[in-house]
Amino acid sequence: MTEKDFLPTPYKVKKIEGKSLWQAPSNIALIKYWGKRENQIPANPSLSFTLDTCATTTVIEYRRLEKKGTDFDFELFFEGRPMESFRPKIETFFKRIEVYLPFLKEYHFNIETSNSFPHSSGIASSASGMAALALCLMDLERELNPEMEPDFFIKKASFLARLGSGSACRSVEGDLVLWGGTRDFPKSTDLYAIKYPFKVNEVFKNFQDTILLVHKGQKQVSSTVGHELMHGHPFAAQRFLQARNNLTLIKPILASGDLSAFVQLVESEALTLHAMMMTGNPYFMLMKPNTLEIIDKIWEFRRATKTQVCFTLDAGANVHVLYPEEGKDRVLQFIKNELVAYCENGQYICDQIGVGARKLIMKGE
Ligand code: DP6
Repeated sequence: MTEKDFLPTPYKVKKIEGKSLWQAPSNIALIKYWGKRENQIPANPSLSFTLDTCATTTVIEYRRLEKKGTDFDFELFFEGRPMESFRPKIETFFKRIEVYLPFLKEYHFNIETSNSFPHSSGIASSASGMAALALCLMDLERELNPEMEPDFFIKKASFLARLGSGSACRSVEGDLVLWGGTRDFPKSTDLYAIKYPFKVNEVFKNFQDTILLVHKGQKQVSSTVGHELMHGHPFAAQRFLQARNNLTLIKPILASGDLSAFVQLVESEALTLHAMMMTGNPYFMLMKPNTLEIIDKIWEFRRATKTQVCFTLDAGANVHVLYPEEGKDRVLQFIKNELVAYCENGQYICDQIGVGARKLIMKGE
């Protein structure tokens, strides 16, 4: 498929008003997206676990305007309160997707959104947020074009979400998701994410992700700036190659359930991501002393108990602790005994691999 396939043909139906409600999960990358080209095209393919508990719920109410507006017409509420600070991000998103959803200026939108995880927990809400919004807008497009195929609906939602935030395209489906065109993976594309197309061992089915909230404050650098710093980065080409190689390497690991190889690859990806930040110009460091304390403790625990548990990081100080369901009691005990002390206010979130976004039914429907 190409971008052109997402341009709509004239709509057959007129819709005056309506509502749509979606819940989209967050996701955590095993192979990281860090670096992009124009139009949100990733510099390398990435692979993620879709999460389950950490999610954004968005409801849009739309009403057709008498006359198409010159600007986008929307109101925004976050957790029940007007949220003007999100406006520029949504404006940019609407501008980028207008050519694919040409009705956007024909409606007034009321957008209400809320997260299952605490605001300012340092958990990126852009992935789940953009995915939920893209799905709501696709619901409206499906009303205008009722013949739309379910498969196209999902692809276009991921395509649109990508234009809002790259990693958001991986938050539409579950449970293991690939974004970025790569030769070894049929149907993979830079335009939207697909379900991981090969065999995945049972051990990964109910994988756990306990997110340790190390630092809940404002991040020093946004991921958008971080991606930009990969342009002209001295190690960029090598990094992009490494990510591609890791995708080839992870295939037999996922098929066989080789957890010790999994642990090595996933941790190396996390540390490489942060190494890129630390070796850029300007350089920056998003890990905190407690991030390192936790990593050290995980390594010690793994050595001492031979439990297959590992960490990954996103562009922040929080630590995602990944492990198979089978070790849940043991690992949670370890987290409570040894790691919680390094979390801000002792906070952590228990999550696990999930199935993807869900359309919710509204009261009274
Ligand atoms: C470190 O998707 O937040 O989490 O496309 O600029 O919105 P934009 O960036 P974003 O970057 C995510 C980076 C990451 C790695 C990953 O999720 O793959």
